[in-house]
Amino acid sequence: MTHSFFSSRRSLFKAACALAAAGLPALAQAASGRSIVILFSRTGNTAFLAETVAKEKGFPLLRLQLQKPYASNYSDMTDIARDELRRDARREISTRIPDLSGYSNVFIATPLWWGHASIPMRTFLKDHPLAGKNIFPIITSGSSTPEDVVADIRHFCPKASVRKEFWVPGSRAAGSRKELLAWLKASGF
Ligand SMILES: Cc1cc2nc3c(=O)[nH]c(=O)nc-3n(C[C@H](O)[C@H](O)[C@H](O)COP(=O)(O)O)c2cc1C
Repeated sequence: MTHSFFSSRRSLFKAACALAAAGLPALAQAASGRSIVILFSRTGNTAFLAETVAKEKGFPLLRLQLQKPYASNYSDMTDIARDELRRDARREISTRIPDLSGYSNVFIATPLWWGHASIPMRTFLKDHPLAGKNIFPIITSGSSTPEDVVADIRHFCPKASVRKEFWVPGSRAAGSRKELLAWLKASGF
């Protein structure tokens, strides 16, 4: 795949700096109610963040597994995912989804695919619009910024309150623990 995000390390760094400069709210209201982390990750970057949040705060972690996993060949897989995105197609989830009614706060952890939320997470959100809940997006990408992932979440969850996201390039995920915990704190946790 020749997509530009793989080539531009400088823009990746700039994007990360812009995010830091944009800042997080200085003070956030303490989050109340129960929380759960819902995760899809293919290569582990987003998983690291979701697992850290779950472990640090003692929240349950729900990993979305697929009925039919993607091709292991990266190039084939990205082409398939792009086609699914164009067709707004689904990728069915095999994970049993528990009753989410008792949770007020839902962390939605997904990689960015072709500018958007990953197809498996889009599928989950189509089936679970999380009305009345607070959603805290956790996103990784190669370098693309996360606005359209957040827009997807707002689109599929119009009656949820979508809060400030945590985004980091996947290559920096494992080194971003400190920033992640700062975001959690600023988000009221
Ligand atoms: C199908 C597919 C499409 C992707 N599209 C983009 C993209 O448009 N922009 C970008 O910066 N990264 C893109 N990436 C890179 C992933 O967002 C990045 O590697 C992410 O950290 C992977 O997370 P994971 O390890 O949790 O699966 C894409 C990856 C895949 C598999």
